[in-house]
Amino acid sequence: MRTPLIAGNWKMNTTLNEAVQLVKSLKQTINSISAVEKLVCPPFISLAAVRDELAGSEIKVGAQNMYSEEKGAYTGEVSAVMLKDLCQFVIIGHSERRQYFNENGPMLSKKILAAIKHNLKPILCVGENLQQYEAGQTNFVVSEQFKTSLAGVEQSGTLTIAYEPVWAIGTGKAASGQQAQETIAFIRGLAIAKYGEKAASEMRILYGGSVTPVNMAEYISQADIDGALVGGASLKTADFTQIVKITSQKGLKG
Ligand code: 13P
Repeated sequence: MRTPLIAGNWKMNTTLNEAVQLVKSLKQTINSISAVEKLVCPPFISLAAVRDELAGSEIKVGAQNMYSEEKGAYTGEVSAVMLKDLCQFVIIGHSERRQYFNENGPMLSKKILAAIKHNLKPILCVGENLQQYEAGQTNFVVSEQFKTSLAGVEQSGTLTIAYEPVWAIGTGKAASGQQAQETIAFIRGLAIAKYGEKAASEMRILYGGSVTPVNMAEYISQADIDGALVGGASLKTADFTQIVKITSQKGLKG
């Protein structure tokens, strides 16, 4: 059985002070909601303060990115060794990283291996862009991203995958529940082929892209969708709380 996960990707939003205020309010509203794992991923500069604010709570903390090397002359980068004291999860290969920072499969597989080595739980993002979607290449693109980003990753362990169609991110044009389910079932098939039936049935696969309190129920009622990676709505306490509540009502998956 899979416990659903609702993860807030705050992206490049919130100052230190705003981040602390946001988790203070989330602690009031979502801390005690059961049957769903709750995660916030603030910018690097707020991780320590958010960790301290959430100490002893049921809300987990994640980073939005990391570099694959452990330390050294990599100006501006942050490693798994540094993050492991601050958070439990790390988002890897978000489409914005692929698009604006040229991240690709070989780089991402190194990051995932480094995350796993240091007991960080990776959330690997995959998803096609609008052009690829319109050309009917979704499964091909997702399959290539899955294979290259997980090359050399022999155990699925704590890996989570987030299917985020690029055309649905920040656009208000969310995928339908059925569309998301079809691609996520396809991804679970890829996981079965690589990691075996048991590991794949335990792996959480999330949907992301314009998730709101209005459409969350549609996603979480699909057989293979184990929660959501939420962008814009994760910055609003009322919306994120509603998304967590709706998810909790559906209970365990699988
Ligand atoms: P939005 O929810 O703002 O569309 O962002 C989705 C996303 O990219 C989460 O990682």
